[in-house]
Amino acid sequence: MGNRKKYYITTPIYYPSGKAHLGHSYSTVAADVMARYKRLQGYDVMFLTGTDEHGQKIEINAGKAGVTPKEYVDKIAMDFKNLWKLLEISNDKFIRTTDDYHERAVQKIFRMLFDKGEIYKGKYEGWYCTPCESFFTDTQTPDKKCPDCGRDLKWEEEEAYFFRLSKYSGKLLELYKDNPDFIQPEIRKNEMIKFVESGLDDLCVSRTSFSWGIPVDFDKKHVVYVWLDALTNYITALGFGSDDDSDYKKYWPADVHFVGKEIVRFHTVIWPAILMALGLPLPKQVYGHGWLLFGNGEKMSKSKGNVVDPIILCERYGVDAVRYFLMRDIPFGADGLFTNEALINRINFDLANDLGNLLSRTVSMVEKYFDGVIPDEKREGNVDLDLISMAKSIKRDYEVQMDGFKFSSALSKLWLLVSRCNKYIDETMPWELGKNKENYGRLATVLYNLCECLRIISILVEPIMPGTSKKMREQLGLDEESCKWELAGEWGITPNKTKVFKGGALFPRIDTDEEVKELEKLISCKSPEKESKTADNLVKLIDIEDFAKIELISAKIEECEPVKKSKKLLKLKLYDGKLSRVVVSGISNYYKPEELIGRTIVLVSNLKPAKLCGVESNGMILAADCGEDVKVLFIDDIPPGSKIR
Ligand code: MSP
Repeated sequence: MGNRKKYYITTPIYYPSGKAHLGHSYSTVAADVMARYKRLQGYDVMFLTGTDEHGQKIEINAGKAGVTPKEYVDKIAMDFKNLWKLLEISNDKFIRTTDDYHERAVQKIFRMLFDKGEIYKGKYEGWYCTPCESFFTDTQTPDKKCPDCGRDLKWEEEEAYFFRLSKYSGKLLELYKDNPDFIQPEIRKNEMIKFVESGLDDLCVSRTSFSWGIPVDFDKKHVVYVWLDALTNYITALGFGSDDDSDYKKYWPADVHFVGKEIVRFHTVIWPAILMALGLPLPKQVYGHGWLLFGNGEKMSKSKGNVVDPIILCERYGVDAVRYFLMRDIPFGADGLFTNEALINRINFDLANDLGNLLSRTVSMVEKYFDGVIPDEKREGNVDLDLISMAKSIKRDYEVQMDGFKFSSALSKLWLLVSRCNKYIDETMPWELGKNKENYGRLATVLYNLCECLRIISILVEPIMPGTSKKMREQLGLDEESCKWELAGEWGITPNKTKVFKGGALFPRIDTDEEVKELEKLISCKSPEKESKTADNLVKLIDIEDFAKIELISAKIEECEPVKKSKKLLKLKLYDGKLSRVVVSGISNYYKPEELIGRTIVLVSNLKPAKLCGVESNGMILAADCGEDVKVLFIDDIPPGSKIR
């Protein structure tokens, strides 16, 4: 056991800033497939995934949801864990960057880099929006107004620590040259070479403008800025920087980091440079996979026409169908479009027709002609030898593809055997042989060969569809011994007199038209946008006394005009039944002043006054977020000054 070869594979750690979607599932399923494959080959595997929980965005989202950042990430990290369980992800560890051991190790790493002179204190400069607490570069703000709120920006300098990334350009280029496989696929490698050749700036690794991060322990007003915190997860999860670093010693360096193409840069520039600065070994490879695109070519769940919630898809079609689709339909390094129809087609053609039918026909015939006992007749003719030679070579072809992370090609190789078996049935016509007892010897050979091929398929399909592989073996009556990985390349392993058990269909066929209609119904009442909002549904419950603190009244808009110097704000003069007051509202992208004058709205009348772009606002009007639109709540038939409760 002690001498087994090690294999360490990681996924990116996901931001728990919203609901986990099919795009996240893509990286994780791929890493799981690899981890299972290597375990089956006898490797001692460490498979790591987790969540990247710090940063300003999480702080802001938590604030919106009315909970603390920790409460916010606790809930979403749990959702990620549950989704991975549902998808049968076999990770050995799950790291959360808010875990104590990680926080302590990051502080230690930060100090080590500082002590070595690799991190220094400097100034972070840029155009700053105070209310949004955000910096922008010159190019991001040609008009020097905040792109988020439209307010004027100020040139600000913030004290920050920097990592000396710039000095690593030469070493990084050498690394890429000496290790041509370090960045894969090729297209990503070429992008990175160009990027590094154009010169690197030092990297800001601490911030003082927000607090949801790991404090720099020797300068507490700073928190460690996200990428140093995030990337080091790959070693802290193994105990680096803690009292027990045995896993680190055993598994580091990683064999491969699977990451999406947009974060290849962080993993192939910043991460190796940090490791070089620490004097630690570098990961062997970073593989940048493509994106799953939804509907109109967008990366994320903006699509209107597809159900992309992995939970719904698993409920409807089963986990294995979803895993198969993700690995089969899109070559790993490329982008690919997800559509419900493509998924249903794969289920119907590849899984129900090709694989499912092959198993059920074979098992049924063994039951019908041989009382369910696989016959041990092996009188082979040419047609058999063709099938057998393909069956024996498929493992090798499959492994070549898997070793290069070509999951889709690996599956298409395997399906060549599935198709060959179906063709073999057409060629040998076992139902004809079954009509005459004299042909039972030949029939026995045919059925034995089919069972043996199915045994091989059940082994090779296991990393991708573990549940299906198990069901196949149950129906074929196979024990674990006959299904060891290395036996996928051997012929004649199914023991004599093995008893088969006819089970249900592996993958029931789906009526495509009906199903697409059903899905459309689901989408209209549960669009992805609505879905992701429910992830933010972490609202803290309040008492009625809390609600009573808010004074809501109806008020009529008497005048309305845009606020000068602002893109988003309108200045409204409201009559609240007794007096007039000015309220500023960020709705100018949605309403023209003339659409509002004369209308009655809901006013939060006891809000403390606040100055927005130089205008004092005395209250707030209520509006609803409707997807990309914002709609003011109009209550024109209610007289101004009525209390709303
Ligand atoms: N937290 C960082 C990663 C830090 S790793 C040290 C991050 N998180 S993320 O949640 O935004 O993205 C995590 C991964 O999910 C990325 O690799 C990203 O490419 C992947 N995906 C998110 N949406 C995706 C698709 N639609 N398709 C495929 N993968 C996508 O970046």
